[in-house]
Amino acid sequence: MSQLRVGVIGAGYWGPNLIRNFTACPHTEVTAIADADANRLRTMGERYPRAKLCPSIEELLAVPLDAVAIATPVSTHHRLASLCLNAGLHLLVEKPLVLSHR
Ligand SMILES: NC(=O)c1ccc[n+]([C@@H]2O[C@H](COP(=O)([O-])OP(=O)(O)OC[C@H]3O[C@@H](n4cnc5c(N)ncnc54)[C@H](O)[C@@H]3O)[C@@H](O)[C@H]2O)c1
Repeated sequence: MSQLRVGVIGAGYWGPNLIRNFTACPHTEVTAIADADANRLRTMGERYPRAKLCPSIEELLAVPLDAVAIATPVSTHHRLASLCLNAGLHLLVEKPLVLSHR
């Protein structure tokens, strides 16, 4: 069975847990990792050399993916999630989804 190609956006406190678990799962592979912080991206690159490192969501969305998981600050969720859904990708967004429903 082929693995689901997952992109993870956000490699701060929580994102590395998602990356670790998607890597450990036999049904998924972490194909791309995006973070706005170059140092965090470099650290992930040392741990996961097969993943493409992306400084922006635009670069991540240029990689062939099946699904994206978002672990960035809540204020960024709506914009990043909208871009992923408009790209036709399956999506997991960390809680809480948004700051306000208004
Ligand atoms: N499920 C849980 O139990 C659980 C636990 C902790 C945190 N969270 C959630 O995870 C999310 C992230 O929390 P955290 O504590 O890891 O935050 P964090 O600040 O430690 O990490 C966020 C990362 O996102 C990056 N980032 C910010 N804006 C970006 C953008 N536009 N594009 C790419 N990267 C960007 C930052 O550089 C940073 O590395 C939040 O929604 C938080 O509520 C969930």
